[in-house]
Amino acid sequence: MIPYKHEPFTDFSLEENQKLMQEGFNIVSEYLGEEYPLIINGERIMTDKKKDTYNPANTEEVVGKISQATQEHANQAMEAAKERFETWRKVAPEVRADVLFKAAAIIRDRKFEFTALLIKEAGKPWKEADADTAEAIDFLEYYGRQMLKIKDGEPVESRPGEYNQFDYIPLGVGFVVSPWNFALAIMAGTTAAAVVTGNTVLLKPSSLASAVSYKFVEVMEEAGLPAGVINYVPGSSRDIGDYIVEHKDTRFISFTGSRDVGVRIYEKAAIVQEGQVNLKRVIAEMGGKDTIVVDASADLELAAQAIVDSAFGFSGQKCSACSRVIALEDIHDELLEKVKEKTTKLTVGDPVNQSNMMGPVIDQASIDKIKEYIEIGKKEGKLEAGGTTDENKGHFVHPTVFSGLKHNDRLMQEEIFGPVVGFTTAKDFTQAIEYANDTDYGLTGAVITKNREHIEQAREDFMVGNLYFNRNCTGAIVGYQPFGGFKMSGTDSKAGGPDYLILHMQGRTSSEML
Ligand code: ALA
Repeated sequence: MIPYKHEPFTDFSLEENQKLMQEGFNIVSEYLGEEYPLIINGERIMTDKKKDTYNPANTEEVVGKISQATQEHANQAMEAAKERFETWRKVAPEVRADVLFKAAAIIRDRKFEFTALLIKEAGKPWKEADADTAEAIDFLEYYGRQMLKIKDGEPVESRPGEYNQFDYIPLGVGFVVSPWNFALAIMAGTTAAAVVTGNTVLLKPSSLASAVSYKFVEVMEEAGLPAGVINYVPGSSRDIGDYIVEHKDTRFISFTGSRDVGVRIYEKAAIVQEGQVNLKRVIAEMGGKDTIVVDASADLELAAQAIVDSAFGFSGQKCSACSRVIALEDIHDELLEKVKEKTTKLTVGDPVNQSNMMGPVIDQASIDKIKEYIEIGKKEGKLEAGGTTDENKGHFVHPTVFSGLKHNDRLMQEEIFGPVVGFTTAKDFTQAIEYANDTDYGLTGAVITKNREHIEQAREDFMVGNLYFNRNCTGAIVGYQPFGGFKMSGTDSKAGGPDYLILHMQGRTSSEML
């Protein structure tokens, strides 16, 4: 087997790749506005109730009309998943892994189409959409290989006269709830991890970007996945989400999304329902309030670029995005000037045009929330750049920088999920790390420094799941930088890491007397 290597990013400066991207758009334009059914046990079920996904850069452009599942559909999907589990769990791990490898090959073959669909449905700039597609391929390639690594369990000792074995077996039916911000990568990664380990799933994608998840399920079918292993049931939390979380036969929930929803799922999953015979396991990947610390020794050009890339890449709509900068007093003003200069050069507009560095935010609720925080920021600090929106055709927010904040101001504590970054100062490095840690979250963070002692101090004391030095705090690569956070950022799981698959399994000991 070829060792795992991450999927290279596309060089869009090459004309041939620009042409391929245009071909991707052409393919997607042929199915824009189509109706999508549910998929239960392989059967396509078109419902009367549909929810449109649309292009956030052009709100009149419908991307998909998505059938919405009812509780009855959820029950049907649960029955199908339970029944299929009894055979899927016995399918050789090599065969399950092979489905992932084949799916990766199919997506690689249709890379520009998937990237174009992400640009249309999630409003991602080319570079970000390409990275999303690449990450989906990575998850499939990486988890396939991880399954082959763990398929025989771990060695255990046997005493004379006994034969002991320790292996991992699947859990049962999982409920995968995926987000819109990595509508392909995280959806594919969380689903693939669940099924390659022998579980079956009900997949509820984000209602804001569901067409791409339908296309992914089709790819998995084409790659050989039997009917009933992934049951595609889009719908709202109110209609079916809570219902499936509370269902007595849901064995585990793999959720990526907001803190509020994650906490609610965690609480609901803890309540044992009548007839339930397992305690539910929850894997939750929630929010972040991620900090870049810059000390006096730092390369300020590098620091400013890391801040701008981390805060404004995909309009700050990543749980890993930088939304707080803590600069030591000596370099604060110079750093702020550099960030402002770079920020004002960013171009914002329809991401279909390659030249736009920033696209829209996802929906009206998002733009409303960001505007509220901009007003809060104006009261708590000083607006240095941006602060305006363009809502004529889509949901555009200009990249926004605030200074003069206290580390515990609301703007520096609450997740905004938009292109807004706040600056504060610290008198020394120890205080900077204290301030960095003083949030409810613990997902990513970066330190920009040339000081070796500061690097080691941060390694010990900066409480984030993904800690980066002298680079941006976004863009973890599957298998290279396993991703996931502490505190209210989730259940400390590490997507794309060596211990992730085991979260979807249980260890079984067998001991045979000879
Ligand atoms: N895994 C994504 C990142 O690292 C969220 O930015």
